[in-house]
Amino acid sequence: MADTKKSCYILAIETSCDETSVAIVKDGRDIVANIVSSQIDTHQKFGGVVPEVASRKHVETITFIIDEAVRKSGLSLADLSAIAVTQGPGLVGSLLVGIVAAKSLALALDLPLIGTHHIAGHIYANALVHEMEYPCVALVASGGHTELVYIEREGVFRLIGRTRDDAVGEAYDKVARALQFPYPGGPHVDRLAGEADEAIELPRAWLEPESYDFSFSGLKSAVLNVINQAKMRGEPPMRAALARGFQESVIDVLVEKSIRAVKAYEAKQLLLCGGVAANKGLRAALAARCEAERVPLFVPPHELCGDNAAMIAAAAYLKWQRGQFTPLDMKAEPLFSLEGWSVE
Ligand code: KG4
Ligand code: ZN
Repeated sequence: MADTKKSCYILAIETSCDETSVAIVKDGRDIVANIVSSQIDTHQKFGGVVPEVASRKHVETITFIIDEAVRKSGLSLADLSAIAVTQGPGLVGSLLVGIVAAKSLALALDLPLIGTHHIAGHIYANALVHEMEYPCVALVASGGHTELVYIEREGVFRLIGRTRDDAVGEAYDKVARALQFPYPGGPHVDRLAGEADEAIELPRAWLEPESYDFSFSGLKSAVLNVINQAKMRGEPPMRAALARGFQESVIDVLVEKSIRAVKAYEAKQLLLCGGVAANKGLRAALAARCEAERVPLFVPPHELCGDNAAMIAAAAYLKWQRGQFTPLDMKAEPLFSLEGWSVE
């Protein structure tokens, strides 16, 4: 069992997609350093993340980012208690870069290794900013994930809903591209939607009445249809009204299903996390609805919503407290199960 009496400093590495990040977090909640190096500039010219390019970029930067995080923390390597790393889900080549770095550090420093689930990280970003109460429900909305997660007790996850096709951020990025915005287009669509005086009515994918699942590809196709029809008529597309119609459809479904889950599972808190949590329209709509329903809503600050290693350290702390470490021969898990990663 880990010695939980003295302070625990976890160094965490996150390389699951297009951010290279290293953080050191004390006792699962105090961020000592959190360095995030984004590859957006590199991928922008391709209109999206190119997996092979992402892995190469991680290789180029990872050792510098580790050095920077340690320097910024003012700690020495001897002060560290464990090494955590995102084991999955994510791009396999990208995950491997972080995993090899983490294994090397764990071996060289003779420290325990903690393979960590990326979505658990997004959820436990909340532990870095407020006291979590259980049971709670998390809406994870990012470029790669759209999930409703029921957390019955600390570190025990049940996936109650997920997207059946595109992730919500992915749909934002595709719609943004059709509206001629650069990658990642989510923030542009959000801004344009906020400027619109009217909205083009678009479908909402509610799926089966009891379902907490999502689907965004039909909505994305509906947007593309409107653009193509305007093109055929030789008219410019009503970009702002389209952005607003798209955003309203997304928000309606996300808000409704989240609130339904909170009630059904008698959750004490609703947690919004992932890159799309930055969406102004979503935050406002969820905040208004949660206030009306008297549901406490928590959203981590912007820098902890996108991919970062501090959130990985926060989730890894759950395992550290219980002495649940990962063998050094662990592999990257591109389709890692969140439920399977639960602490018990
Ligand atoms: O969590 P994240 O940084 O990376 C992934 O794990 O995917 O999320 C990035 C995604 C991108 O698809 C981006 O367009 C979207 O989050 N995003 C937004 C906004 N800001 C970022 N989508 C809608 N509105 C925003 N304001
Ligand atoms: Zn993520």
